[in-house]
Amino acid sequence: MRKPIIAIDGPSGVGKSTLSKLLARELGFVNLDTGAMYRAVALAAVQHGVDPDDDAALGRLAETVVVDFDRDAGTERVLLDGEDVSAAIRTPEISLLTSKVSACPAVREALVRRQRELGIRGGFVLEGRDIGTVVFPDAEVKFFLVASAAERGRRRFLELQAKGVAVDLAKTVAEVEARDAADSGRTHSPLRRAADAVAIDTTARGIDQVLAEMLQVVRSRQSAANSGKE
Ligand code: DC
Repeated sequence: MRKPIIAIDGPSGVGKSTLSKLLARELGFVNLDTGAMYRAVALAAVQHGVDPDDDAALGRLAETVVVDFDRDAGTERVLLDGEDVSAAIRTPEISLLTSKVSACPAVREALVRRQRELGIRGGFVLEGRDIGTVVFPDAEVKFFLVASAAERGRRRFLELQAKGVAVDLAKTVAEVEARDAADSGRTHSPLRRAADAVAIDTTARGIDQVLAEMLQVVRSRQSAANSGKE
């Protein structure tokens, strides 16, 4: 029996990455961080000197670069043409550039195709902005995570601080809000909740609590699907 596809969408700082990794581990599925793919293309644009306003060149770049995930060592590493870029794709500068690069239709087409090729066999938890609406509109389970911008900014601030990056809380919250506006306001595949997605507010709840709720949803869908087959 084909394993399901689980879509997790929502704005930045909502807990998607942590929760999708944990959910995938609990279920024995593979986690796919689609944001890392957009980030890697943005970094490649810097490395190759591609003008971020040149949509055609960005599209060609997204078609040719190879973004891989190395999950062997226990922690996930993001590889861009074989090079470990896990840290380089997470700087505030690349975050901002990724918002722009990910609005380019040709980039989206190339990456969505790749995401579908990977996820189609099932047993995948994909996290992003358009998984439940565009990449896999027929995903068996869809989640849409939300949290206040102030809380998401605070989480991002703590994350960057822990990595030794010099950051300012108010500036980080403002950056989160700017990215939200860009991700939700773009013409191509804006961030929005699929009508059939289960919405979960993570603002005042711990990871364990949210994970338990997500697992419950997945398991009840699985048992409903199994009993439908009997
Ligand atoms: O989830 P993240 O913060 O790593 O995403 C980085 C950027 O990529 C963010 O601006 C939204 C964009 N993105 C997207 O447009 N579509 C996706 N499926 C995933 C991320």
